[in-house]
Formats: sequence, structure tokens, C-alpha cells
Amino acid sequence: MDKASQRVENLHDSYGRLASKLRISITDRCNFRCNFCMPSQPVWLPHDEILTFEEIVRTARVLSQMGIDRIRLSGGEPLVRKDVEGLVSMLSRIDGIKSIGMTTNGSLLAAKASALKRAGLSSVTISLHSLKPERFDKITGTNGIFDKITEGIEAARSLDFKPLKINCVITRGENDDEIIDFARFAHETGVTVRFIEYMPFDGTKLWDAHRVITGEEIVDKINKIYPVAKIERETGSTAIEYNFEDGSEGGIATITSMSAPFCGDCDRIRITADGKVVPCLFSRDEYDIKSKLRAGASDEELSAYIRSVYFRKSPGVETMIKNKANLEHVRPMHTIGG
Ligand code: 5AD
Ligand code: SF4
Repeated sequence: MDKASQRVENLHDSYGRLASKLRISITDRCNFRCNFCMPSQPVWLPHDEILTFEEIVRTARVLSQMGIDRIRLSGGEPLVRKDVEGLVSMLSRIDGIKSIGMTTNGSLLAAKASALKRAGLSSVTISLHSLKPERFDKITGTNGIFDKITEGIEAARSLDFKPLKINCVITRGENDDEIIDFARFAHETGVTVRFIEYMPFDGTKLWDAHRVITGEEIVDKINKIYPVAKIERETGSTAIEYNFEDGSEGGIATITSMSAPFCGDCDRIRITADGKVVPCLFSRDEYDIKSKLRAGASDEELSAYIRSVYFRKSPGVETMIKNKANLEHVRPMHTIGG
């Protein structure tokens, strides 16, 4: 069969949005306890509920035949899963996959970075929510681990992962006094720091709208010290990116999921660690694919199922905000990985 006939009709929803990016949470476990991501006493999924590498790869292969060409691995913390480089290597051999990225807390990255590079990982995003070691520990529930993250960033930089991005969740009263420090960090080190608006997925109901610092506020602050210029947004991107006007290599970006989301061209499909298809991050709707994989479904049955559930994808948070719907806690972030 040639490639064109293998590629069945591309995956789309009822609003005509095409899916091209797959985010897979490969574990709900994490060695951190970020206060905006999980309850202090998380309940982990039992091991046999978690998709095996073979099940993940099979799902990704079926999706690649429906037009998915970019994969991002997340968690929990993806690097706590044993032999994650083996999974990267299996995924990188799937026809039609152009890039594999990973979102990580960076604590185990220095040790794993070269194996991941060899396995075919293209890009890395490291979460860093404070540049002050003590505050970093407080936010992430860790103890003296800050230097491990900077080592991880250095390792990723020296191996030339492209792009190399830093994710930073800014919350009012917690780390909003570090916005300029993070901009300086981007300016000095040449990385892109992405400021993510705080979303109501913390598992602890700490979230409230007053603690969200909008992307606009962040850019206004930075612009006064480090003038920045907006770059045209790539279709499907959740981020608005900015270059420094003085031409230095780094940059900043905002992910305005709460104040100005881009649901209209959302091109993502998500799979949870326990094998649920999640078409929209902000919707409770999730569809079990694990039981189909384990009951011996054929590729055709899997793709028909994914197609039918993706078609029902909710219009997204933009519509919820417009309709003044209650933005409620849907699932803690560590079970879906962003
Ligand atoms: N709101 C915004 N971002 C969050 N993240 C985790 N929890 C939240 C939240 N409640 C971040 C992680 C990671 C990215 C996938 O999302 O720190 O960088
Ligand atoms: Fe772990 Fe990332 Fe959640 Fe922090 S945000 S607890 S590092 S999964």
C-alpha cells in the first residue's frame, strides 16, 4: 500500500479543526509536587492501568496515519518512567512523525539528555517557576534541587535540542515579582521563556481567577525594560512569541489559555497515561482507548473510534469564557501533562 492510500482521511472535529499534534502523558507520577499541578497527597494510577510502550506506539502509529506528525511526551514527569529513551526511539521510527518533544521538570535531564538525543528526541521544554532556589523548592515541593534543573538546562543546551524552551507558571503573590528576572534570564542565556497563565487544574482547588497574571500584564512589564516585538503566531500554536528588539538570541512567549485562548485552530489530541483520549484540555470528556487496545481491536477499529470521539471535541475554553461558564477544576495537570 502506498503512503497516500495508507493515510486515511485526516482527523478532524465537527468545527473543521484538523489534528496534527499528539501529546502523550506517559506517567501520572512525578518526583515534584508543584502546588498548581497536584494535590499534596496524590493518588497514583496502578501500574497495570498505565499504557505499555507497545500500546503507546501502536496508538501513535494509528494516529500518524490520520495526519498526526508531531508528538510531545509529558507526564507527570516523563523521565521517571523507566527506559523512556527506548520509547522515544520506537516513536521516532513511525512513518510520518516529524518531531518528538518532551516537557520535563528537568531534575533528571542531565543524566538522560544524551541518551534521549541519540534516541531521536528533537526538542525539550523544561519547567522552571522560580530563579530563587528556596522559592523553587516551596513551589515544587522539593528540597535543594534547583542546581539539578540548571544542570539539566545546560545539558540540553550543549546537545543542541531545538527548540529549547523554559515553561514558567506565574501566579499572583507567589512569583510575579520575578517576571523581569525571567526576561533577563532569556536575554542572557538565549533560551525562550514561556509564561503560562495559571489554569484551574491543580487538584487542590487553590486556583482562583485573581491569582492569574495575564500574558498582557507580563509583556507590558517586560517591554519597559527589555523591549520586545511580537512574532506572527504559527497556526495551532498556543503561544504568542516575542523577540528581543535588540536582536539578542533569546525570546519570551505567553500562553494565554485563560485570557485569550486560541481554540479556533487547536490542532491537538491528548492521551492520558491510562489510555484515555482527551480531545480538549478544558473539557471533562475523555474516551477510553486502553480497553479497546487490550481487547484486540484492529487498527481500523481504533481509528474509527478515535475519529468518532474526536469529532465530538468541545469548542473549547474560549467558548466557555464567552458563555460565562464556570471554569472548574477538570483534572489535575499531572494526569494530563498540559
Ligand atoms: N496552570 C498552568 N500551567 C501548569 N502546569 C502545571 N500545572 C499548571 C497549571 N495549573 C505547567 C507545567 C508544565 C506545563 C505542561 O504546564 O509546569 O510546564
Ligand atoms: Fe510534576 Fe510537572 Fe506537575 Fe510539577 S508541574 S508536579 S513537575 S508534573
